[in-house]
Amino acid sequence: MSNAWAWWVILLIVFNLGLTFFLFLWAPWARVPVLPDGTTGHSWAHGAIREGLHRLPGWWLFLSFVMFIGAFGYFVLYPGFGNFAGTLGWTSSQEHAQAAQANAVRLAPAMARLAKLEVAAVAADPQGRQLGARLFIDNCAACHGREGRGNMRLGAPNLTDGDWLYGDADEAMASSIRDGRNGVMPAWESLGEQTVNQLTAYVLSLSGQIRETDDALAGKTVFAGTCSACHGPEGKGNPLLGAPNLTDDIWLHGGSREAIRQTIRDGRQGHMPAWSGRLNAQEIHLLAGYVHHLAHPDPDEADNVARR
Ligand code: HEC
Ligand code: HEC
Repeated sequence: MSNAWAWWVILLIVFNLGLTFFLFLWAPWARVPVLPDGTTGHSWAHGAIREGLHRLPGWWLFLSFVMFIGAFGYFVLYPGFGNFAGTLGWTSSQEHAQAAQANAVRLAPAMARLAKLEVAAVAADPQGRQLGARLFIDNCAACHGREGRGNMRLGAPNLTDGDWLYGDADEAMASSIRDGRNGVMPAWESLGEQTVNQLTAYVLSLSGQIRETDDALAGKTVFAGTCSACHGPEGKGNPLLGAPNLTDDIWLHGGSREAIRQTIRDGRQGHMPAWSGRLNAQEIHLLAGYVHHLAHPDPDEADNVARR
């Protein structure tokens, strides 16, 4: 807080507490002129109601004074009075750090046990899955969805379908999480609209959505020269580049003619952030286990938080 704001806050507090204190001192002895009939002389509703005068009840004054002392004590003990830190030295970030620390200590034995297991064994472990599910919901669900089914608008893949951009090895999964991924599909607008349409037809035919038309056959020739370097000669993809398999009818950016045309014409970029700076190695291991579990669900398992 800048000095000017600090002084402004101090001024407000001093004014408010000071005014309240003054009222406590002044009000009990203040004399308000009262007529012999006990009213103030004000009348309301054309004289039907006359205004009386009652002192504040003692319990009310007492409670107010307790609250006044409470407010005063608060500003002495806790931060709030401008830049004054309070005599207890309490801060919210410190309290959070302490709670996080206590939590880490509480979970340490479980984390140590799970860190020694293979990814597939973490996936099979109820506690591993439970901790993984929490981490997944906190960090991954925003893009991949609560249930890990992906989000086409963000190009975030479905993690439950067993189809992997970067291969199905547990190490590939862990590496995606640890180091992040950038999938770059270049834009091919420069090839011209007709060629883009032919390529679209060929991609549709690869996944069996249409038969091999003349357009698709023309597209096939261009594909062999332009696209196969990344997507492979048969369009089955390349896990080293994260180039998707185009023959399996599973789509990262949509499988309609229009979506495919747009992918080819304008290109696509998928950005998976790296988590190594934000999560520790044990947490990343748990997440790899949880993603493994998402892709190999155990049908008679009910204790999975995220899939409920
Ligand atoms: C430099 C490598 C590279 C080349 C060359 C390339 N692609 Fe891609 N393509 C990718 C990558 C990587 C992705 C995934 C993008 C992502 O991760 O979001 C992709 C995605 C796609 C998709 C979307 C698939 C889906 O599941 O939604 C289509 C369709 C596609 N490419 C078709 C083509 C065609 C047709 C060509 C040739 C004109 C081509 N690509 C050339 C790398 C390439
Ligand atoms: C900002 C959105 C975003 C967040 C948050 C995010 N991801 Fe991703 N993730 C992506 C995108 C986009 C891709 C695809 C990258 C590409 O196109 O190459 C991806 C890819 C992946 C892959 C590789 C999938 C494959 O088919 O090979 C895994 C595994 C994965 N994410 C797991 C996670 C986990 C676990 C978390 C949480 C720690 C997470 N992601 C958080 C967007 C996100």
